[in-house]
Amino acid sequence: MVKYSAIESNIENGGSVLMEYNHMKEIYFSPTGTTKTIVNEITKYFSRKKEEYDLLNNPPEEEISFGNEDFVVVGMPVYAGRIPAVCAESLSKIKGNNTPVIAAVIYGNRDYDDALLELKTILGENGFIVISAGAFIAQHSIFPGVGYLRPDIKDKQAVRRFAKDSCEKFESIPDIKEINFEVKGNFPYREPAAIPLNPSVQKTCRKCGLCAGICPVNAISTEQPEKINRKVCIRCTACFTACPTNSRGFSGVRYALASKIFEKKFSARREPEVFL
Ligand SMILES: Cc1cc2nc3c(=O)[nH]c(=O)nc-3n(C[C@H](O)[C@H](O)[C@H](O)COP(=O)(O)O)c2cc1C
Ligand code: SF4
Ligand code: SF4
Repeated sequence: MVKYSAIESNIENGGSVLMEYNHMKEIYFSPTGTTKTIVNEITKYFSRKKEEYDLLNNPPEEEISFGNEDFVVVGMPVYAGRIPAVCAESLSKIKGNNTPVIAAVIYGNRDYDDALLELKTILGENGFIVISAGAFIAQHSIFPGVGYLRPDIKDKQAVRRFAKDSCEKFESIPDIKEINFEVKGNFPYREPAAIPLNPSVQKTCRKCGLCAGICPVNAISTEQPEKINRKVCIRCTACFTACPTNSRGFSGVRYALASKIFEKKFSARREPEVFL
C-alpha cells in the first residue's frame, strides 16, 4: 500500500496528461457528488471523451457488458465500511470480459474498512481485471464537519498521481490477466451498522417531487414528499442535495450531539491509500 502524502507529486495542479484512450467508461454512485469528482479526476488522465454510467440517476435495468477494448473507472462511496447494498445490486448487472478497471472508494475520513476489498472482489467476479485500487477522502455526507471541503488540491494531486501510476502499470504489463495484488480489508466483511438518524423535512417544501425522483430506494412518497419510509431509507442524503429549497436534512438535538462526537473522534486528517 502506498500513501501519497509521503511522495512529492510531480504532476502539477490541473496538469493532467491526456493519453486519449478510446472507450473510456466511468461508473459511479454519488449522492453528494464527491465520488463523481474523484472518478472524473482519474478518467481525465486517460481521455477527454468518456461514457458515464450514473448508478444513482440511471440504475441499470438490464445487464450492461464491456469488452477488453474498454477501459473502466468505477467509484463507490463507503457506507458503514461497505459498498452501499443498492450499488452492489447495480454492479451485479455490469459485466466485463477481461475488461481493465480502476477501482476507487471514497470515504468521509473515518475509515473505508472492507469497502475496497468488496468492490475489487465484485469487479473480479464480474469479469473485470482490476489494474489498481485506491481509497480517497471526501467531506462526510452525514457529518460535513469531518473531511470538510475535501477532496482538496492535495487530494486531487494524489488522484492524478494514482491515475498516472495506474496507466504506467497497465501499459507495462504484457498480459493484464497476470495482474495480482491485494488491498486492505477483511473477509467476511463487517456487518453494516444502521445509521440511527432520520432525515427531516421543513415547511419550506413546495412539493416539487425532485427528492422522490432521485431517491435510490423509493423511500419518499411522490404525493407527500414529507413522508419518508424510514425502514427503507439508506440515509444517502441524495434528496438533501436535490432539494431546490434546502428543505431536507438531519436536524435536532440528537444529530447535533452525534455530529459533535463524530467530529471529535474522526477529524484527524487521513490521506489517500492506493494499491497497485
Ligand atoms: C449512510 C452513510 C454511511 C457512511 N459511512 C461511512 C463510513 O463508514 N466511513 C467513512 O469514512 N465515511 C462514511 N460515510 C461518508 C461517505 O462515504 C462520504 O461522504 C462520501 O464522500 C460520499 O460520497 P458522495 O459525495 O459521492 O455521495 C457515510 C455516508 C453515508 C451517507
Ligand atoms: S425536493 Fe425539496 S421542495 Fe421538492 S418535494 Fe422534495 S423536499 Fe419538497
Ligand atoms: S429518503 Fe433516504 S434513501 Fe432516499 S434519497 Fe433521502 S436519504 Fe437517500
